[in-house]
Amino acid sequence: VHLIERDTALSQLGDALQEVRSGGSGRLVLVSGEAGSGKTSLTRAFTSSVPPDVLVRWGACDHLHTPRPLGPVLEVVGGFDLLALPRERVFSAVTEVLAGAAPCVAVVEDAHWADEATLDVLSYLGRRVLDLPVLLIVTYRADELAAGHPLRIMLGELATSRPLRLSVEPLSRAGVEELARPYGVDAGELHSRTRGNAFFVTECLATSADALPETVRDAVLARLGQLSPPARAALEAASVVPGPVEYWLLDTLSVESSALDTCIERGVLVGGDRVSFRHELARLAVLDTLLPGRRRALHTAITSALSRPPVGTVDHARLAHHAEEAGDVDTVLASGPLAARAAAAVGARREAAAHLERTLRHEERIAPEDRLQLLSDLSMLLQELGHHEDAIAAYERAVTQAEVLGDPRTVGKLLARMWSSVSMAGHLQRAESVVDRAVTLLEPLGPSRALALAYAQRCSQHMLARELTAARPWGERAVTMARELADHETTCYALAQSGIARWMNGDDGGLDGLRDGVELAREHGYPSLVVHGLSQIGSGGGEVRRYPEAVVALQECVEYAERFELGSRGMYSSAWLARCDVEQGRWRQAADRLDMLMRSSRNEGVTRITTLTALGRLRARRGDPGVWPLLDEALAMAERTGHLQRLWPVVAARCEAAWLDGRLADELPTLTAAHELAMRRDSPWARGELGFWLWRAGVLGPLEPGAALPFALHVAGEVRAAAAAWTQLGCPYEEADALADSTDPDDLRRAYDVFIGLGARPAAQRAVGAMRHAGVRVPRGPLDRTRSNPAGLTDREVEILPLIASGRTNAEIAARLQISVKTVGHHVSHVLAKLDVRTRAEAVTAAIALGIDVTSPRP
Ligand SMILES: Nc1ncnc2c1ncn2[C@@H]1O[C@H](COP(=O)(O)OP(=O)(O)O)[C@@H](O)[C@H]1O
Ligand SMILES: [Mg+2]
Repeated sequence: VHLIERDTALSQLGDALQEVRSGGSGRLVLVSGEAGSGKTSLTRAFTSSVPPDVLVRWGACDHLHTPRPLGPVLEVVGGFDLLALPRERVFSAVTEVLAGAAPCVAVVEDAHWADEATLDVLSYLGRRVLDLPVLLIVTYRADELAAGHPLRIMLGELATSRPLRLSVEPLSRAGVEELARPYGVDAGELHSRTRGNAFFVTECLATSADALPETVRDAVLARLGQLSPPARAALEAASVVPGPVEYWLLDTLSVESSALDTCIERGVLVGGDRVSFRHELARLAVLDTLLPGRRRALHTAITSALSRPPVGTVDHARLAHHAEEAGDVDTVLASGPLAARAAAAVGARREAAAHLERTLRHEERIAPEDRLQLLSDLSMLLQELGHHEDAIAAYERAVTQAEVLGDPRTVGKLLARMWSSVSMAGHLQRAESVVDRAVTLLEPLGPSRALALAYAQRCSQHMLARELTAARPWGERAVTMARELADHETTCYALAQSGIARWMNGDDGGLDGLRDGVELAREHGYPSLVVHGLSQIGSGGGEVRRYPEAVVALQECVEYAERFELGSRGMYSSAWLARCDVEQGRWRQAADRLDMLMRSSRNEGVTRITTLTALGRLRARRGDPGVWPLLDEALAMAERTGHLQRLWPVVAARCEAAWLDGRLADELPTLTAAHELAMRRDSPWARGELGFWLWRAGVLGPLEPGAALPFALHVAGEVRAAAAAWTQLGCPYEEADALADSTDPDDLRRAYDVFIGLGARPAAQRAVGAMRHAGVRVPRGPLDRTRSNPAGLTDREVEILPLIASGRTNAEIAARLQISVKTVGHHVSHVLAKLDVRTRAEAVTAAIALGIDVTSPRP
């Protein structure tokens, strides 16, 4: 078939394939458009035109209530049995299969229906596609991606892989005319009726009705009316099954093969090794005409056929769909848990949870022990998915069930696990009572994994509240018991929680414990506990300004999480790296990282608080606009957690920004409250920093004992000693800030120089004031040069402009600035957006017009 108005798209696809074949570097193509616009047709036209040595692999997502885990990926890899592999091997296995087939075109159709495991694989491939000799084509309905849709989130993250985006537009009036010509139909009316939707247009043309159908559905049904009753019956039977239907399945529905042939001949169905509707829209239109009784009877017949397939094993996801529609509760109950297990095994947690939820709707029919197991599994899945309120509700149902069964050990175990969600959801009081109850129930029953976990949670509860001294004995109990039981998993976790409490409390033995925990987790293969341990070292160490240890752990954590596809967990460490960069004066690096973090739609919860605070602080220090929206959001989020560790950095950042604006008093209420909290906790740095701001606000005299030394020295007027302490910690801004409070001209000059070196305009300005006051001659110039750039461009973006002007590619710019190509990509797209232009050449012209010097790349 000749496709109308797709020549450009086809040649772009051809070019992309050419790139893959010649360069060995892969390409991701995103084909989007509404249902029926022609995505599949375009992709098929392209794949059928590729040279014979190019292998084409095709997989489609299905439209079941809950899609089959890895469904399209399994089709793409052909006979390879991915399901036999452990989850973390799946990614590399898919990569190997595709690379082995090079050059290869892999198509994943209708990704808006993709299951979680498939999305994970797509995301993995998408990020590595440049290193794979594969043209990866993903089609989806753009109009079905609501704000939080998982595919939308993933596509946002793939923006840096430079995907080729093909938007399949409706046919134009001229296009519709061309199609309509042989039929003698009024093309104008056809075009306006169908708005150029290719499926709608072609469906209308296939009917011989006199009047044009009003809707897609009418068009489909008008065609149906032209078929014989047996053919219509065949269509109805097939319409009940989403996706391609096997012939044997149609046989069990008493579909006559001659009727099937008629449908295929008329182009309503498409034949092959299985039978499909010409389009999902047609299937749904037919399905819609079935009366409930007939529909249910068909589902019942399909359910029984799928329970005993003539070949292969039972597909429980598919079976569960039809059993649900048939109202066949026995089969729902039997297949739901199996479908859930199969989904969870490959990392499709969302689908696993959906299967369990559907099964548990018939709770009263499930034996109590089984019900408990299902509820317990469901709670853990929801917890892992980060749906904490739902997880809490599921845990509560499980607890009730365990209580009914008179099983205190299980109640205790569930409570110990539930604690994490209660705590993450910010219910601090409730978290305390949950973990207390767990310990109380489990202790009399003697040592157990559950009790070791409960001890570890008890330790965490204190540790998170920065009651570090109180945390210690619980942590020790947890570690000892878990070790005695040779429970490596709990040992790793307990070592991390107890180690961080000790280390932050000034005991370096805690750091050893943390490191032992990470090693143990590596040794026994618990990747998420490796990430957990490293991020504890990084964030805990960062909080007490043990930068050398912290930064190494954070970097390792980010890399490790990336390697093991634990991306969103590594993100917390990434936010902490940015915070350390801000505190240690690496502001360009911090800005790049914060930019990346702010774009990620997975940046939530404590990671977002950390990101917002670090960015707010950085902007305030640089005198950039946009400080307060960030710090307002961070404050609201931190207040909801109720934790000092979240609240204090935000409050301190707000004080700093307000002080630079000359209105510190505005922050006093928040500051006073946070300080009061800090005085009830074990955190010298919180006491020091918050006390310091109270002192600057003129409210507090010398700091109380237990405040971190550099702040105490500063407040005591020993600014040189304070500055020296900051130098030793590697915090230049704080160093200069201390010196700027000196009366000695040399100190003031040094403070000024450091501020200028950092690009800290507001503080430099204040230092100038102090210098004038002390009668020190003020150097001219540098301050002017740090004035803000035009069009809201950052320094880095201005720096990149001459490199763009000199015709360098992103890769060349990246090499020159020693930053990643991805980051350069961000900068360039920012430059384009801020200058409101579309091409690099236009950006250069616009920059020149703004008076930016684009001729000389800075050395
Ligand atoms: N460019 C085109 N020119 C002519 N007909 C088209 C074109 N694109 C699609 N069609 C027709 O529209 C139908 C639906 O297109 P399809 O590719 O299945 O849509 P999508 O995959 O976007 O939902 C096809 O079966 C084909 O008959
Ligand atoms: Mg399609």
